[in-house]
Amino acid sequence: MKKYFLLGASKGIGFGIAKELVKRNHQIFIGSRNKENLENAVKELNQIRSESVFYWTVDVNNYTSIEEWFNKGIAILNDIDGLLINYGGPPAGKFLDFHDKDWQHSFEFMLLNPIRLLRLVYPYLKNKKGSILIITSFAVKEPVENLILSNVFRSGITALIKTLSKEWAPNIRLNCLMPGRIDTDRIRQLDQKIAENQGKTEQQIRHFFENQIPLKRYGTIEEIGKVGAFLLSDDSSYITGSSIAVDGGIIHSLI
Ligand SMILES: NC(=O)c1ccc[n+]([C@@H]2O[C@H](COP(=O)([O-])OP(=O)(O)OC[C@H]3O[C@@H](n4cnc5c(N)ncnc54)[C@H](OP(=O)(O)O)[C@@H]3O)[C@@H](O)[C@H]2O)c1
Repeated sequence: MKKYFLLGASKGIGFGIAKELVKRNHQIFIGSRNKENLENAVKELNQIRSESVFYWTVDVNNYTSIEEWFNKGIAILNDIDGLLINYGGPPAGKFLDFHDKDWQHSFEFMLLNPIRLLRLVYPYLKNKKGSILIITSFAVKEPVENLILSNVFRSGITALIKTLSKEWAPNIRLNCLMPGRIDTDRIRQLDQKIAENQGKTEQQIRHFFENQIPLKRYGTIEEIGKVGAFLLSDDSSYITGSSIAVDGGIIHSLI
């Protein structure tokens, strides 16, 4: 049994990973902003296996909150074997929609706060076979239209993870998971926004995207959860510095 800290695991992709880790008999400490979301998640996870899930609220926009969350997890579980870095994405928009303050905020939210969290966890993992997983996006392979902040900063974090996978080897493994279109609240909100802009229904937009995916549907949080749990656990002991896609084949590039 290992101890995993999972940021942004009350819903969506993070919750899918949490479910899979609990099924595999690991202990987890989860966090997100909304206490009610966390309590709902814990209730569902307890039905899989009780007494293996702990939580504390955290907002990745605020480093003090991240530090408090991390220290709380250490106080509860006494140790950590792996960390999931996951949370919401930056706002949608094109280059001319954003000003300096938007770029500076996204830098802190998408890059600097994860960097600070990595600094916190390093002393705990450096002498053991620890693993770190970051959720990025298929935008790292193919920039997504109208998501310029995500395209830029997720590429930055991918470069950071690849670099650390060498600097922190051989003990700590670090990987990225690139979702394609996974059926979560966030993807439904993005589809809704596109629908409003184009004067269409959310269902029409979803149908349009599903048609572009070779597997002809959005992925489920259970499907991506299995891959996330695999990458965090020792089952992936020879994988580091990689970005793995769970995208139903939507990425066009060869590798
Ligand atoms: N779904 C997809 O198809 C897709 C595709 C490409 C990339 N991604 C990326 O994958 C990540 C997860 O997406 P998702 O679809 O699973 O989103 P989601 O369903 O909205 O879930 C996001 C999770 O993160 C938490 N969270 C959000 N903002 C936070 C913050 N500031 N601090 C702490 N926790 C926070 C949320 O809980 P609270 O609301 O309680 O904080 C929730 O538990 C995002 O970065 C997204 O951009 C997703």
